[in-house]
Amino acid sequence: MRPRGTVAVVTGASSGIGAATALALHEAGARLVLHGRDTERLAALAGRTGGQVVTGDLADTAAIPALAQDILGRFGEVDILVNNAGVGWAGPFGEMTAADVRRVIDVNLTAPVELTRALLPALRTRPAARVVFVTSIAGRTAVAGESVYSAVKAGLDVFADSLRFELSGTTVKIGVVVPGVVDTEFFARRGRPYERSSPKPVGADRIAAAVLRAIRDDRAEVYVPAWLRLPVVIRGVLPGMYRTLAARFGGSS
Ligand SMILES: NC(=O)c1ccc[n+]([C@@H]2O[C@H](COP(=O)([O-])OP(=O)(O)OC[C@H]3O[C@@H](n4cnc5c(N)ncnc54)[C@H](OP(=O)(O)O)[C@@H]3O)[C@@H](O)[C@H]2O)c1
Repeated sequence: MRPRGTVAVVTGASSGIGAATALALHEAGARLVLHGRDTERLAALAGRTGGQVVTGDLADTAAIPALAQDILGRFGEVDILVNNAGVGWAGPFGEMTAADVRRVIDVNLTAPVELTRALLPALRTRPAARVVFVTSIAGRTAVAGESVYSAVKAGLDVFADSLRFELSGTTVKIGVVVPGVVDTEFFARRGRPYERSSPKPVGADRIAAAVLRAIRDDRAEVYVPAWLRLPVVIRGVLPGMYRTLAARFGGSS
């Protein structure tokens, strides 16, 4: 599928991976609907791309049907949905409040599931359509101090794969992009900076390029960087060895 002339919706377009993805889609010729909460940043990006700004808090999941109508009203159709917006939370699980848990689940899982559900009828009318989910290596390996975040990213991953099976034979193709550590405001916002010396954070433009690859080549999954597939394979094939190695070298970020 070529993005030129399509209508692409990007959530979390005001920052980091979403902003880089919006710019990459603009350069590829897509017309954009830019979603987020930060109106100033979204307006600046709209100025660069000619995109339409739609604002709203994805934690307010009851408002998602109205949000989908607002999105659809901008160009009258939608071909590409990039479910990218997300929020982290890092620290001991016992220190999370019920509100923290709810927010991490709603923004990272309920919102993309509901937005996809609301836009699917419109996507299905298009000759070719794509839904890409930005998940996380945390959802494929498990991370200490990020148990709820890891769980919801794992849930999103399996939702995406299930939907991909369910929609095979239709014009709507589903993919996931699985980033490792990315140099964005994500860590500052979650309240704990990334302090490990490796893996080194990659630029948001690398994740944007992976989203474009998933769209163009109908890729079911793209890891960034590609070697991240390795711990996932080891976890699947040799779970005992994986746990020993994770306890020694990783397991937190
Ligand atoms: N950075 C990493 O290392 C990393 C690694 C793996 C996966 N990811 C995933 O990549 C995605 C993008 O993250 P990022 O690294 O680009 O982080 P970021 O710079 O903090 O951007 C997060 C984006 O999500 C939006 N967002 C957050 N909460 C929202 C809410 N309640 N309602 C509406 N929008 C909301 C923000 O919009 P506003 O600021 O306008 O509210 C912002 O545009 C997330 O799903 C994250 O889980 C990141």
